[in-house]
Amino acid sequence: MLKKEQLYEGKAKKVYRTDNPDLYWIEYKDDATAFNGLKKGTIANKGELNNLISAYFFRLLAENGIESHFVEEKSEREMVVKSLQIIPVEVVVRNIAAGSLAKRLGLEEGTVMSRTVVENYYKSDELGDPLINSDHIRALNLATPEQMADIRAIALKVNEILRAHLAERELDLIDFKLEFGLHNGQLLLGDEISPDTCRFWDKNTKEKLDKDRFRRDLGNVEEAYKEVYRRLTGR
Ligand code: C5P
Repeated sequence: MLKKEQLYEGKAKKVYRTDNPDLYWIEYKDDATAFNGLKKGTIANKGELNNLISAYFFRLLAENGIESHFVEEKSEREMVVKSLQIIPVEVVVRNIAAGSLAKRLGLEEGTVMSRTVVENYYKSDELGDPLINSDHIRALNLATPEQMADIRAIALKVNEILRAHLAERELDLIDFKLEFGLHNGQLLLGDEISPDTCRFWDKNTKEKLDKDRFRRDLGNVEEAYKEVYRRLTGR
């Protein structure tokens, strides 16, 4: 397969065309942004770590019956994926209050939710990804009710698979964000699953091992991403 011209450059990834119209070639960057692009920086080796961690999670999910856009790794920081028509809804699943939820509802970070919370955000850089409900999604024609029901069910299943797998590695899955898209009409999980898009806390010390170390200037950002990779793969 051939890597062709760049189609798009996002905040954390570049997307290239390939000689196969059904497949895109993704390159993960070391660039890091937070607060809708207001904070910018780089995290050494983040591109490689997020590519490898995402590939690891997409394989784990495939083994458990969840299909994603992931096809194969091409290098340490590159993967080939199925082309998706992205549904502009970011789906956040939360087990423990943190980040914007803790702030919005006045909960102390670390409060265990009595049930899993699924939220939808409108994927729009100009608007800063506002929280939306199912009526907004229908009114704006972002997705059909059937698609949203499937998306919610998949998101909850992803949560169970990842949570159990991470618990065996002494990591708490606090929350995470998923994106979905359509590939020839089939709903698939897209984007990435990495310390950029999830919150992972050490089960015992509650140390943060994710992008909050960058967002909050906690230091040792690269080390935290490496630690997640090490716990998953032993490497
Ligand atoms: O900031 P907030 O608490 O709403 O984030 C919830 C989860 O979604 C976190 O794991 C965060 O990393 C992820 N997220 C993301 N991309 C966004 C917003 C949130 O990956 N644009």
